[in-house]
Amino acid sequence: MTNYAEFHRRSLEDRDAFWAEQAQLVDWKTQPKQICDYSNPPFAKWFAGGFTNLCHNAVDRHLKDRPDQAALIFVSTETNQEKVYSFHELHAEVQRMAAVLKELGVQKGDRVLIYMPMIAEAAFAMLACARIGAIHSVVFGGFASGSLASRIEDASPKVIISADAGSRGGKAVAYKPLLDEAIRLSSHKPDSVLLVDRGLVAMNLLAGRDHLWAPLRQKNLNTVVPCEWLEATHPSYTLYTSGTTGKPKGVQRDTGGYAVALAASLKHIFCGNAGETYFATSDIGWVVGHSYIIYGPLIAGMATIMYEGLPIRPDGGIWWSLVEKYKVTVMFSAPTAIRVLKKQDPALLKKYDLSSLRALFLAGEPLDQPTAQWISAGLGRPIVDNYWQTETGWPILAICKGVDDAPTKFGSPGKAVYGYNVKLLDENTGEELKGANQKGVVAIEGPLPPGCLQTVWGDDTRFVSTYWTTIPGRMVYSTFDWGIRDEDGYYFILGRTDDVINVAGHRLGTLEIEESISGHPNIAEVAVVGVADQLKGQVAMAFAVVKDTSLVTDDASRLKLEAEVMKLVDGDLGAVARPARVRFVTVLPKTRSGKLLRRAIQAVCENRDPGDLTTMEDPAALQQIKDLITT
Ligand code: PRX
Repeated sequence: MTNYAEFHRRSLEDRDAFWAEQAQLVDWKTQPKQICDYSNPPFAKWFAGGFTNLCHNAVDRHLKDRPDQAALIFVSTETNQEKVYSFHELHAEVQRMAAVLKELGVQKGDRVLIYMPMIAEAAFAMLACARIGAIHSVVFGGFASGSLASRIEDASPKVIISADAGSRGGKAVAYKPLLDEAIRLSSHKPDSVLLVDRGLVAMNLLAGRDHLWAPLRQKNLNTVVPCEWLEATHPSYTLYTSGTTGKPKGVQRDTGGYAVALAASLKHIFCGNAGETYFATSDIGWVVGHSYIIYGPLIAGMATIMYEGLPIRPDGGIWWSLVEKYKVTVMFSAPTAIRVLKKQDPALLKKYDLSSLRALFLAGEPLDQPTAQWISAGLGRPIVDNYWQTETGWPILAICKGVDDAPTKFGSPGKAVYGYNVKLLDENTGEELKGANQKGVVAIEGPLPPGCLQTVWGDDTRFVSTYWTTIPGRMVYSTFDWGIRDEDGYYFILGRTDDVINVAGHRLGTLEIEESISGHPNIAEVAVVGVADQLKGQVAMAFAVVKDTSLVTDDASRLKLEAEVMKLVDGDLGAVARPARVRFVTVLPKTRSGKLLRRAIQAVCENRDPGDLTTMEDPAALQQIKDLITT
């Protein structure tokens, strides 16, 4: 075991040599000319002059040594399908999809939006884009027309790939009508829509625009589409995430840096080896799905499980049965899913042979101690909390098991991962807090390591102004999370500094939800806050001022309006963003300058002291909320 402190130090102080070594974990058509070009901070160009391809590294390069090994294991407990694709078969399917995209006019640099359930074709679509140098933008299938429309608008895709429906709890959820509505709402119109017909719901096809996948695939069964060699800095994808303003940001990722970062993370953090099986229980609509369902495991030559379904259907043992069946060695999930499983029969954890499993990685939200202890005792395997963001694409904080034998500490995702120069900054002065046990904003000194966002899609200015600040002579990236570092270098994450909330591991902007609710004709004003929840970590709570109070005179009318508001959010953003409750007040707590006091509302909802309220305009506003939640 290397000395981790030295490994981390070298990654920063001897940066180029360190990453030049990691770069050898992937195949290059042309070796990079420069490891890190940071001549224009905060824009970092990793592996400039190098040419490679993500699909080549994830698929083609394994054809020599492991053509018949499982690559993609698709399991749906929704439609009772299970299909294993070898690397050879995956290669064929990806080429078919790539051929169809080319036929539809997609060229290098064009955007392709993917709005799909967790089916194998979604993986083919992502890899096919990477193969031909198209930039994919996967939109989570749980998002509704409004969210989808704003992403179509921003990404301006030439083609959209979708399906007739997803399925949840055995019920089909039609996608096509939502997509049609989103295209109608967007001023950008795609040339073509490619649709996978799963036979779940009937679809109306628009002649000239909509195409079915099956016949086009059939036509291209044997079409050969070589990988396009791309500059390391060529964008591979955009993935939209919520931030401080209502409009979601398109996190833009490169090609070469991402390939290297993922390959290195599989080795040093996840300790996954070629020939083994990786199981990430996320969705391709999120960053974990991009990095650790699709690209990371495949680049490492591992089989990856793509699971469509609930963790408790047919029963709470389904995931463990897959671990046994496919001899999963590395598993990745979110604390919220473990909290769901914790409510199931504990015997289900003992029913299956889990001896293949080396570790369970958990990320996306704080890991509470009871959940960590329950799963750790149940599995008898190390639980590795790790902290990162859509923006970074791979862990910022973790215990890098491959190079560090340090113990984990409950409540801490671990230490700064190699490549990340993590700092804590004073909230007011922006100065670095060097001592132990001080609370500050978690920040990363530039350059960000390979694999992190290059910029915000189409908006370099927003990238710089949103994330970066200058501390004397250096630029630092803000994570928008509070943190503390102890004397051993372990960090503890204490929640967001902005208006982002985390519901069941899903990152949502309260402002987006507020915008949607404000669209209701009888809502004058609304504040949405995240409130602690035992199961989901946080839930959204809305407090709204109605325009015509004669419409909310009794419980029945209040419930009716609440249901209408929830329906509106469902239709706009999707059920993931639906507030747990919408309560009605006559005035919202604000500062004298008119700023909503969301933090005070949140504190009251969580039964905490709301702190200094001297700047509050009307103290009765907060009292109304107090009265509401205690009744
Ligand atoms: O607030 C932090 C929280 O989730 C945010 C990032 O969410 P997202 O972009 O969806 O990326 C998730 C990638 C796993 C962070 O800013 N977060 C993530 N991991 C942890 C966490 N909070 C506490 N502990 C974690 N391990």
